[in-house]
Amino acid sequence: MSQFLSYLLILSFFFFFVNSLGNNSSPLCQLHNCGDVNIRYPFWVLNENASDQQQYCGYKGFGVMCLNGTAVLELAGGRYHVKDINYDDYTLALVDIDVSNQTCPRARHSVSLETLPLKYSSMNLNLSFYFNCTSDPPIPVPSNSIQCLNIGSNRSYVFVENRETEVNDWSKNCEEKVVVTVRKTQINMTNLTGGFGRAMNDGFVLDWETVKDCVTCESSEGYCGYNAAAEEYLCFCNDGSTNSNSCKGMLSLILMGTDTHDSNST
Ligand SMILES: *[C@@H]1O[C@H](CO)[C@@H](O)[C@H](O)[C@H]1NC(C)=O
Ligand SMILES: *[C@@H]1O[C@H](CO)[C@@H](O)[C@H](O)[C@H]1NC(C)=O
Ligand SMILES: *[C@@H]1O[C@H](CO)[C@@H](O)[C@H](O)[C@H]1NC(C)=O
Ligand SMILES: *[C@@H]1O[C@H](CO)[C@@H](O)[C@H](O)[C@H]1NC(C)=O
Ligand SMILES: *[C@@H]1O[C@H](CO)[C@@H](O)[C@H](O)[C@H]1NC(C)=O
Ligand SMILES: *[C@@H]1O[C@H](CO)[C@@H](O)[C@H](O)[C@H]1NC(C)=O
Ligand SMILES: *[C@@H]1O[C@H](CO)[C@@H](O)[C@H](O)[C@H]1NC(C)=O
Ligand SMILES: *[C@@H]1O[C@H](CO)[C@@H](O)[C@H](O)[C@H]1NC(C)=O
Ligand SMILES: *[C@@H]1O[C@H](CO)[C@@H](O)[C@H](O)[C@H]1NC(C)=O
Repeated sequence: MSQFLSYLLILSFFFFFVNSLGNNSSPLCQLHNCGDVNIRYPFWVLNENASDQQQYCGYKGFGVMCLNGTAVLELAGGRYHVKDINYDDYTLALVDIDVSNQTCPRARHSVSLETLPLKYSSMNLNLSFYFNCTSDPPIPVPSNSIQCLNIGSNRSYVFVENRETEVNDWSKNCEEKVVVTVRKTQINMTNLTGGFGRAMNDGFVLDWETVKDCVTCESSEGYCGYNAAAEEYLCFCNDGSTNSNSCKGMLSLILMGTDTHDSNST
């Protein structure tokens, strides 16, 4: 019993000590609202002027800008309007800003996830666009020709990806091919040319995954972050401290001087 009391004493001293250094979890980890989108871990608010943001609480590449009340995520080569972040399902709904609110959108680029911990959801479907084709394709596919994008004798076409039939070398005759991801449920296969615009305006869904370097931190109930200047991972803990990789083991580390670093490596 007395052993328990002294343990309690040490524990409360420890928390007093820690709390005097700073209050609860880091302000960097706090929730922000941008329009009707909640931005919280593992997403974070990216200031447009990123130079004053050396540290953040969240995953690399998950910085969401709040531009005029609209949440915007930048992926390689493009900006996307963040329609929704579902923290229960780990999904993210995006709309390409270039095509947003256009009845006959001309996609400028494909989505690129690079090395981000993002995956295409199985709710998606890809459309292949061929723009400004100067001669008709070898096999005529007039039903796939997009009227509203045709200029002079140039034609543009849309297909469900990999169903371009036996068309030979499109790239020879067309100015550009762009693959666009949309929700499966928004596509009517029998009327692609009439429905692609609405589908693109509705956007697509990505799943996110845990970052490997953040597993230790997260399993100790910390929030993983990054110090961009030092190129180091950070772990923001509920006691207000910021550690290098975990929130557990601090107590034993201080009291016993033991290193718990290796205890979860197997
Ligand atoms: C942390 O401190 C700030 C400013 O001192 C205060 O506004 C905030 O409520 C505190 N948070 C907690 C969880 O105590
Ligand atoms: C970014 O910097 C520019 C120029 O200094 C300034 O006008 C703008 O308000 C800043 N944006 C934010 C979000 O702070
Ligand atoms: C921000 O939104 C307001 C109201 O919707 C609009 O009038 C203004 O032009 C927008 N500003 C920018 C920079 O988009
Ligand atoms: C698109 O249109 C809707 C309704 O007209 C509007 O609420 C929304 O702000 C527009 N989005 C953009 C990115 O302009
Ligand atoms: C759509 O394209 C992306 C990028 O090429 C690919 O990773 C993804 O698997 C494709 N999705 C489908 C449903 O084919
Ligand atoms: C086709 O090319 C013309 C001239 O370069 C350009 O203005 C137009 O936007 C292009 N159309 C498409 C659908 O890419
Ligand atoms: C038709 O497309 C070609 C590229 O394939 C482009 O060079 C040309 O300017 C386009 N013509 C018109 C009238 O847009
Ligand atoms: C798909 O489009 C075809 C032709 O426009 C139409 O007959 C059919 O009802 C549509 N199907 C759905 C599920 O909307
Ligand atoms: C395809 O969809 C468009 C837009 O909804 C509609 O105007 C058109 O009549 C449809 N085409 C067919 C063949 O049903």
